Amino acid sequence: MLFSLITAAAAGLAAVLTVQKLFYPYFWDDLIYYMKLQRVKRMMKLRMRHGVITLLDCFVQQAKKIPNKPFIIHEGDLYTYQDMDKRSNKVAQVFLQQGSLKKGDIAAVLMSNEPDFISVWFGLSKLGCEVAFLNFNIKSKSLLHCFNSCGATTLVVGADLITSLEDVLLTLQNNGINIWLMEKSSTFQGVNTILDKLEHASDDPVPLDVSSQTNIMSTFLYIFTSGTTGLPKAARISHLKAVMCLCFFQMCGATSDDIIYVTLPLYHMSASLLGIGGCIELGAACVLKKKFSASQFWNDCRKHNVTVFQYIGELCRYLVNQPKVAGEMDHKVRIAAGSGLRPDVWKDFHDRFGKIKVVESYGLTEASIGFMNYTDKTGPIGRAGFFNKCIFPFDFVKYDLQKAEPVRSDQGYCVKIKKGETGLLIAPVTSMNPFLGYAGNKELSEKKLLRNVFEKGDVFFNTGDFMMQDHDDFVYFRDRTGDTFRWKGENVATTEVADILGVLEFLQEVNVYGVSVPGHEGKAGMVAVVLKPEHKLDGRRLYSHLAEHLPAYSWPRFVRVQASLDVTETFKQQKGRLVEEGFSPSAVSEALYFLDESEKTYIPLNKNLFDAIVSGQIRL
Ligand SMILES: *[C@@H]1O[C@H](CO)[C@@H](O)[C@H](O)[C@H]1NC(C)=O
Ligand SMILES: *[C@@H]1O[C@H](CO)[C@@H](O)[C@H](O)[C@H]1NC(C)=O
Repeated sequence: MLFSLITAAAAGLAAVLTVQKLFYPYFWDDLIYYMKLQRVKRMMKLRMRHGVITLLDCFVQQAKKIPNKPFIIHEGDLYTYQDMDKRSNKVAQVFLQQGSLKKGDIAAVLMSNEPDFISVWFGLSKLGCEVAFLNFNIKSKSLLHCFNSCGATTLVVGADLITSLEDVLLTLQNNGINIWLMEKSSTFQGVNTILDKLEHASDDPVPLDVSSQTNIMSTFLYIFTSGTTGLPKAARISHLKAVMCLCFFQMCGATSDDIIYVTLPLYHMSASLLGIGGCIELGAACVLKKKFSASQFWNDCRKHNVTVFQYIGELCRYLVNQPKVAGEMDHKVRIAAGSGLRPDVWKDFHDRFGKIKVVESYGLTEASIGFMNYTDKTGPIGRAGFFNKCIFPFDFVKYDLQKAEPVRSDQGYCVKIKKGETGLLIAPVTSMNPFLGYAGNKELSEKKLLRNVFEKGDVFFNTGDFMMQDHDDFVYFRDRTGDTFRWKGENVATTEVADILGVLEFLQEVNVYGVSVPGHEGKAGMVAVVLKPEHKLDGRRLYSHLAEHLPAYSWPRFVRVQASLDVTETFKQQKGRLVEEGFSPSAVSEALYFLDESEKTYIPLNKNLFDAIVSGQIRL
């Protein structure tokens, strides 16, 4: 009796498991990921109940728990958790004594990747200031715009960056901005210095009433995001958002024993909140590099026994494109965590540098939405199942590229995509998932919102990113708005074309975009390429490869061969200038080619051919 019961139960269970395997093959992956996040959430709630509320609280707690553990390793210097805690106390004390800053003031930081970026950031935060990170690649007028847009009254400048400020220094001073230089003395008139005062400052924490922060929704940082058009915008980052970022490396599978290599600029969210924040949460050591260098990368990893590194965008492609050297697999790196890695690079990366676990994720500075690839499938940035939506609610809706806005039904509501389609990623704005907007610009903030999406009165954040959800609920990043163009009535996703071209053996780098051709609707595809050393552009091979993998409307009509590609400081490819220059041989000095469909190849684009295309003699 008992035996048959057990058999029946076992058979039942087996049937359930079979069904699960057949219809929900990723059920366990999803559930485990969900549980992991729930555990992190519970732990954070518990911590908050004990008064550890902000990122800074977590850091101070670690400095008490593991004072002598290395925290920041930089160009031969080592700062333990305690060192950094004390140094940031000193920074706070200097400003407190000078009386130039108080709780709620906004202070901007213009510094390179160096340990004092962190001590200044934490020091200012310890005073209850809101800190704005300025991008040091931005100069003169644009820098002034950024500075003014966040409403800062104080500017702290790294010793190596004061010269880049020369042309706006006077304007800043005339506007009554206090400027502080990370030096012992300064030759610039009216510029205060910090390091001389730091020497004599106390390393005690500033009084609690100065620093304590209890409103988790209040602004912690301003971080500039570039977006697709216009000048950078200062996104307001709440304490809650910063705290949510803390678990990044933990979710990637890193531990306190890991040595984490951060080469990305600290003024972005990736390096500061995910990178430095992620190290703090683990109590891990961070090797901080002033500037990413592809040629020094693996040597640095070996020298410091790096086990985890953080990447964004094209960083891994730069590593893959480096000339091969002996002993490339000779390192201890086990995890690469980041976002924006293309599938073709992913594979090359593994072949070349060994089995490193690549954790691809997606997140935004402005909104609380995140994906992570927690299965062993290559390519997707994450999953869109039931559990995932419990964590960060989101939806994909149909988009009209012509009108550059979501498709609306007859009732005026947005339309969800079907599985297998590409749509715009949007996320509901709620009290737990707020959008704090951009500093000082209501209009820009409103532009990022969609109203009356699925019902009257609801509000969603528009990420501007296109994603594809496949039939197994995997989510693939497709494009950013502006990166998709229309040709012959079809949508062409530039990343998709780039991914296909990326596997060609003679191409090192590709950047796909759309250009206007007189007399034609939409944009014709164009690709800027960098050839591999010792390789030529093989027009026939290029044609047959495209014909094999892509529909004709998405083939690039024009090719531009460049010596190197322009990239932004976030390692994203720059398209604006290329689009502007188009395919005119008189505007572009580099070699141009044109798709000749009848000959099934690409031919050099000269002035005559150009004129024939522009005059409509040759139809595309
Ligand atoms: C790296 O690891 C090796 C072997 O475990 C050790 O001898 C060396 O001191 C370590 N180097 C650093 C910088 O920690
Ligand atoms: C993400 O995908 C890559 C490529 O297949 C894989 O190596 C990696 O293990 C995946 N990430 C996780 C967390 O499993």
